[in-house]
Amino acid sequence: MKTLILYATRHGSTAEAARRIAAYFPDCDVKDIARDTYDIAAYDCILIGSNIRMGTFDRRVRKLLLRDIAALREKRLGFFVCCCFTENAPTYFQNNVPPQLLEVAAATAALGGELDRKKLHGWDKYVANMVLKADHSRGILHTFALQNKAIADFAKKMQSAGE
Ligand SMILES: Cc1cc2nc3c(=O)[nH]c(=O)nc-3n(C[C@H](O)[C@H](O)[C@H](O)COP(=O)(O)O)c2cc1C
Repeated sequence: MKTLILYATRHGSTAEAARRIAAYFPDCDVKDIARDTYDIAAYDCILIGSNIRMGTFDRRVRKLLLRDIAALREKRLGFFVCCCFTENAPTYFQNNVPPQLLEVAAATAALGGELDRKKLHGWDKYVANMVLKADHSRGILHTFALQNKAIADFAKKMQSAGE
């Protein structure tokens, strides 16, 4: 089974998640949607990953999904997101993935995320500070990270989907 992992990242965590997923697939290419070229027709299984900002998938992923609905429906298809509030993931998938693709997806998964204020600037830093301050005032001290168990579960679900 030839697998393509296609991802969009702003600050690197979705790229890192894609690399960790790839370790479970022997015949697999990992491509950055912003930089690399790819041919969907050359693969049996396609895993598409996006970062989440303000509840929204990366616009490059949304564009790809709308453009290639017919081709993607023919594949073993999975979606993953990197985000800090994984409990909201069902809403993120519902609001960003066309229903014709969501209904045929073998798996969807939220793999955690990272929010390192030292890496953020401008508007991103402002939003991150607001979120963390609001949590802090409610006595919640958050640290965010990619979740290896969620990554393993997602990879296994995709592998077993064709059995
Ligand atoms: C401006 C901004 C908005 C964000 N909005 C959300 C959000 O709505 N929901 C969420 O769960 N995480 C949100 N996050 C957290 C990101 O999804 C998380 O940092 C993720 O790991 C980013 O992926 P990337 O490193 O591949 O860009 C936001 C982060 C930033 C900087």
